[in-house]
Amino acid sequence: MEAPRTAWPATMPDSPVATPAAPLLTAQGLSKHFDVANRAEGLLARSTVKAVDGVDLRIHAGECFGIVGESGSGKTTVAKLLLRLTDPTAGQVHFEGQDITALQGAPLRALRRRLQIVFQNPHSALNGRHTIFDAIGEPLRVQEGMGGRALQTRVHALMDRVSLPQTFAFRYPHELSGGQKQRVCIARALALNPRLVVLDEPTSALDVSVQAQILALLRELQRESQLTYIFISHNLAVVRYLCDRVAVMYLGRVVEQGPVDAVFERPQHPYTQALLAAAPRLHGAAPPVLLQGDIPSAARMPPGCRFHTRCVESQLPACRSELPVLAAPAGAAAGHVCACFLRQA
Ligand SMILES: Nc1ncnc2c1ncn2[C@@H]1O[C@H](COP(=O)(O)OP(=O)(O)OP(=O)(O)O)[C@@H](O)[C@H]1O
Ligand SMILES: [Mg+2]
Repeated sequence: MEAPRTAWPATMPDSPVATPAAPLLTAQGLSKHFDVANRAEGLLARSTVKAVDGVDLRIHAGECFGIVGESGSGKTTVAKLLLRLTDPTAGQVHFEGQDITALQGAPLRALRRRLQIVFQNPHSALNGRHTIFDAIGEPLRVQEGMGGRALQTRVHALMDRVSLPQTFAFRYPHELSGGQKQRVCIARALALNPRLVVLDEPTSALDVSVQAQILALLRELQRESQLTYIFISHNLAVVRYLCDRVAVMYLGRVVEQGPVDAVFERPQHPYTQALLAAAPRLHGAAPPVLLQGDIPSAARMPPGCRFHTRCVESQLPACRSELPVLAAPAGAAAGHVCACFLRQA
């Protein structure tokens, strides 16, 4: 299947460092279930939303790991679990070999310095009453007690790193463009020299031309600082441009994972094939329709393979009754795995 064409410059730097043996971050059996109240026909009923349900991940130092999937598939919830911004219902997270699942108090605060997140919407991420200097300097003041000349020097250095003129320091967010505001958010995320940064749809609120500039900046910062990224996006072309490996999520589970070239050029899971077929193209015929209907509610999961209700290939009894696990399909590239009964050797 033809992969979507990338709209980003073809001359960008190569992939970052080679993958070392020990992963920087791992997740095992990670789940987050929300108990929610629904009112139907005047009666109050409770149901469980399985936002994330049994996710295993290994993120290596220096890589850019992409997470893709439709709205509601659990991408942001996974990110919040990995960063300990929310507690899991089940499963563990290890960072640099340490179990961080139950960390509290000072050790948790220390961990937060090393793990940062940049959200989708820079307009709502910044406090309109704080200057750019305050926004970028806040983590340094609060976490490191920095002030005076030292703080000024660090904030100016961070502004330089994200190519924001120092004359912007005493402006307010409403005086900046969307791309400039996202540069402020990135500078703030880098202030405490994190090891890992989660980028949750960091460019989807921006104009296309500005998106390319922010992506190039992210790539440059990663190379300069040996940063590890988890990059969440709906935009498959962007993931292909920026990421080394990618996980495809569907209804709270990873259905396919592997090196970006393998997943984009030889997608195995019918859902990944449908996502790639549906991606906008610059040239060529209309894409085949491989995806039917809407994503089911995470509160009413279909039995068996979560995707079978929309899968054009679903045909085995197991598709409707058993949950497939990730396994290497026949002839797959190293590290390329897929959770589908139809693809298991
Ligand atoms: N606090 C919460 N309480 C109840 N349900 C929640 C909560 N947070 C998320 N969910 C549900 O969990 C599921 C996954 O949500 P999540 O925000 O992780 O998806 P996503 O893949 O990031 O979607 P998007 O692409 O729209 O950002 C959705 O069904 C969502 O409604
Ligand atoms: Mg999200």
